[in-house]
Amino acid sequence: MFNLVLFGPPGSGKGTQSANILQTYNLIHISTGDLLRDEVARQTPLGIEARKFMDQGLLVPDEVVIGMISSKIDENPEARGFIFDGFPRTRAQAEALDKLLEFKNTSITLVLSLEVTEEELIKRLVGRGQTSGRSDDTEEVIVKRIKEYRSKTEPVAGYYKNHGKLEGIAGNHAIEETFKMLCKHINKYILPAE
Ligand code: AP5
Ligand code: MG
Repeated sequence: MFNLVLFGPPGSGKGTQSANILQTYNLIHISTGDLLRDEVARQTPLGIEARKFMDQGLLVPDEVVIGMISSKIDENPEARGFIFDGFPRTRAQAEALDKLLEFKNTSITLVLSLEVTEEELIKRLVGRGQTSGRSDDTEEVIVKRIKEYRSKTEPVAGYYKNHGKLEGIAGNHAIEETFKMLCKHINKYILPAE
């Protein structure tokens, strides 16, 4: 199995690149942001609770997202592999993911970290906010999301670096160009699906 963590700050292109990667390599996309927004839209108890954090640009508690990931992995026993987008975001989540995958006799293969300047992140997300309808795409909340990323999520890169799995990618180029750079790394492990 090929299991990829697409890592990077809000607006670095995780969702955009995931869509391209999953099509090319036939992988299952797991985005905790998308899963949470779906819960919010359906007004489930989990969604109502999660929304309080999301609207403020804060991370949702670990146990909530870890539970969601576990069931999503279980739903796809025949998967060629997974792309984790926006997860893990804390060290506790990274450790929980390792345990979950170990239990399924697999592991994280590679972590690709998209590096983009803060100025560009804000520009992209403010731009997206004009059409996305996302309650967290206002400049005030975007700045808080980036701050939350710096304090809680960025240290997770060190966790994967210590395991020899981290590769940095310049994410400030055009979408197609960044995609090609990501593919160069992925192709060392799997080839595009037929
Ligand atoms: P989540 O949905 O994961 O949002 P995020 O990490 O803040 O990142 P985004 O989805 O905003 O950005 P992205 O990197 O996917 O970029 P995109 O491709 O969209 O999380 C939202 C919230 O949910 C969190 O704040 C938290 O509350 C909660 N949450 C989620 N997961 C959690 C977890 N594991 N633990 C706890 N809480 C969790 O691109 C952005 C824009 O830029 C788009 O308009 C795109 O078209 C454009 N763009 C992309 N690439 C380029 C490029 N190369 N050039 C120009 N424009 C580009
Ligand atoms: Mg996203």
